[in-house]
Amino acid sequence: QYDAVIFDLDGVICHTDAYHYQAWKALADRLGVPFDEQVNNLLRGVSREESLEVILKHGGLTTLTDEEKRRACAEKNEIYKGLLDEMSPDDLSAEVKDTLDGLRAMGIKLAIGSSSKNAKKILERIGLDGYFDAISDGTNITRSKPDPEVFLLAAQYAAVDPERCLVVEDARAGIEAACRAGMDSAGIGDAALCEKASYGMETFSQLLTICGKPSGLL
Ligand code: G6P
Ligand code: MG
Repeated sequence: QYDAVIFDLDGVICHTDAYHYQAWKALADRLGVPFDEQVNNLLRGVSREESLEVILKHGGLTTLTDEEKRRACAEKNEIYKGLLDEMSPDDLSAEVKDTLDGLRAMGIKLAIGSSSKNAKKILERIGLDGYFDAISDGTNITRSKPDPEVFLLAAQYAAVDPERCLVVEDARAGIEAACRAGMDSAGIGDAALCEKASYGMETFSQLLTICGKPSGLL
């Protein structure tokens, strides 16, 4: 029933949450603002620049200039990229890879819809360079989730109508973005409980069932 599945990357295909946390934590410590995993959870699907704003607001730091913010984002990203260098194809689970291969065997196009500007680097690290039919990421969007732009562009790059796409997301902002794009969505992790998700998944491989059955039967 779907011609394409559009996957969020961080928290769906692989797990970079801990790396984002470590990198933001190092920056927050230097700036002297509090930062914990609860705040980190608010940053799923949120762009780097908007994430910094959330952290500063939460920490009560209101005095940074635009230039200081730009440098803070660059500093976080350098730390984050160093951590990404430690990733390898071992960070892609067999369940995820087998499910992707299974969907492809069903004739479904596979795309990435991620807010990250590091998406291509991450795909390379985990051995999925060149695997997806289309990639829409932080480098081609002007507005981040919950705006639907990233998913609408993924559908356009894959040459599939938005109504024929299923989005897979771990972030509430991503489920909202899928809704606004007119796409069905499957939530995993926190997003599995999101009222707006078309499906809530406990495991990634449930996608094979979701995509194999006519809509309305699940
Ligand atoms: C994903 C992550 C966010 C991250 C964003 C931007 O959506 O879930 O936590 O802030 O990408 O990532 P970037 O790699 O461009 O800093
Ligand atoms: Mg995510």
